[in-house]
Amino acid sequence: MSSAFGKIILFGEHFVVYHADAIVGALDRTLHVTVAPGTDGIVLQSNNTGSAQERQNNLAIVDFILKKMDHAGAALKIIVTSNIPPKANLGSGAAFCVALTRALTQHFQLTLDNQQLVSIATRAEDVLHGHSSGIDTTAATYGGVLGISFDQSGTLQHAPVALPKALHLLIARSHTPAQTSRMVAQVKAFSQTQAVTFTNLKQQYLGVVNNAFAQLQSGDLTALGKSMNANHQLLQALNVSTSALDNLQTAALQSGALGAKLTGGGGGGSIIILCHDVISQNGLTQSLTEHALEIIPVTLSSSAPDAV
Ligand code: MEV
Repeated sequence: MSSAFGKIILFGEHFVVYHADAIVGALDRTLHVTVAPGTDGIVLQSNNTGSAQERQNNLAIVDFILKKMDHAGAALKIIVTSNIPPKANLGSGAAFCVALTRALTQHFQLTLDNQQLVSIATRAEDVLHGHSSGIDTTAATYGGVLGISFDQSGTLQHAPVALPKALHLLIARSHTPAQTSRMVAQVKAFSQTQAVTFTNLKQQYLGVVNNAFAQLQSGDLTALGKSMNANHQLLQALNVSTSALDNLQTAALQSGALGAKLTGGGGGGSIIILCHDVISQNGLTQSLTEHALEIIPVTLSSSAPDAV
């Protein structure tokens, strides 16, 4: 069996597609894939059945990876089990791509290092959202809290972010499913038709993420919360937030959160909320339960799980 992590993007969704620095945290929720020989074509079973479109996407991902491994047309039985909520912007699609690439590597007795694994899984994820930056597949592969940057050739680099104290967060899921691929396409159109505004927003974002790195490393949670709010405003300006996500964000701040922002592609999905500590994490869960589809507590620390 092979596994991969879900994720929350702390800073930088969408801007990271345009090679801005970003910060991502792996969840302690995972997706597992088991591959066994089949008798006829691909049989794919999952504990999250999903829509016909999602099943078709997953089969397209299997086909893509099999072709990359020179095993197109193989007969396989693939079983997926996951506790990462799908369509919630929590990285279940990327975790599927990574866990499947890992499982097929083992099945065909291939040797792939993590960099090659991420590279195949990221291009497989393109089936889901056109052009993936690689942030989700990197988090799914390595785990932990990671700073993401790009070298001069445009290759994604990652490095663990040391946290002096644990971050107590909540994920609040809205009632609307995430629409990552539509939002990624919409932002691409925005970057082309309103190039000056987009460059300006990206410039502002780079200031926010720069501050956020320093605030995370010094443990200045009050300032970090403000940076999350600033990142949310920039995502609103990119038109990837929704009134449901904005209402959740406002409710979180009114209930005493240090900061809150949408996470992942947007158009639905989830927000993340920064809490002072475990006590306020519990209090905020109670205040926000009626506003959200689900509230999931998350604690990120430097000793987050880093291997699956
Ligand atoms: C999706 O979790 C994050 C996006 O930035 C897309 C990507 O980076 O591939 C919206």
